[in-house]
Amino acid sequence: MPAVTASAPGKIILFGEHAVVYGQPAIAVPVTQVQARCTVVAIPTAPAGRVEIDAPDIGLKSTLEELSPAHPLALPLHLVREQLGIPAFPACRLRITSTIPIASGLGSGAAVSVAVARAVSAFLGHPLSDEQVSGIAFRVDQTHHGTPSGIDNTVITYNQPIYFVRGEPFERLTLHHPFWMVIGNSGIASPTLTVVEEVRQRYQSSPSSIEPILLAIGEIVRQARAILASDSLEPLGALLTENHQRLQELGVSCPELDHLVNAALQNGALGAKLSGGGRGGNMIALVEEGQAARVADALRRAGAVSTLITRVG
Ligand code: MEV
Repeated sequence: MPAVTASAPGKIILFGEHAVVYGQPAIAVPVTQVQARCTVVAIPTAPAGRVEIDAPDIGLKSTLEELSPAHPLALPLHLVREQLGIPAFPACRLRITSTIPIASGLGSGAAVSVAVARAVSAFLGHPLSDEQVSGIAFRVDQTHHGTPSGIDNTVITYNQPIYFVRGEPFERLTLHHPFWMVIGNSGIASPTLTVVEEVRQRYQSSPSSIEPILLAIGEIVRQARAILASDSLEPLGALLTENHQRLQELGVSCPELDHLVNAALQNGALGAKLSGGGRGGNMIALVEEGQAARVADALRRAGAVSTLITRVG
């Protein structure tokens, strides 16, 4: 069996995180400068069923058997085996690497699941469809993130800008005018599971205070979609910043993210917001191409541990 490699990009949510869990739309785009990668090679000398996993970025070297079945690197393998209906794997070694910062809102978990599912199924001679791969990444996310909307696994599997409504077929967005974003990493791990759960508790205990915020975010996303299809992207910046304000009201920002958002706005960004689960992880800023370096510098001076400039569309 020849060696097989597959990779998957990171992602950012441009508009609509958290509200998307409650049926509002959201817009997400892939970030291809960062990637998760999985290479599978046969071990001809080992007995069938032995699967070795080497993930140097997280210091993990183990066999599949030694990992708990729900482990984020083991579960996609079990799900591929289940999906293909094969009793055991041929002896093989997986090397899993990723340049996507973990717990930063860039979808590192879903990207690893997608890369593993693709590489392993291709290695077995039965490459899974995008739909199957996305479904596997969704099930892994469900195990580790409670009640995910499905937006992360979808945008990462299909590697395209998407307009996403939970439980509905997603829409591929054609962006007529590319634009530039600066991504700033707060360096704080984003506790997505906890934050999503907290929003849920607030929603259950006081729906009348949360519902208007979710509806307002949904309206921002619909306006953003219309702008992305139009000739002028100018109003997009104000919508990003408005979305951030709604997320603050929802209680999912933190002083560090607010500080980075303000630093971006004070240094020429057209708009900025947190992206992903919040309370840490990344923020994003819309910039004119010529301002990208200046905004990235300002973000690092304001405490971002890393920045990335990405062209969307
Ligand atoms: C996480 O990337 C986005 C959230 O909206 C959760 C989800 O949609 O599953 C916070």
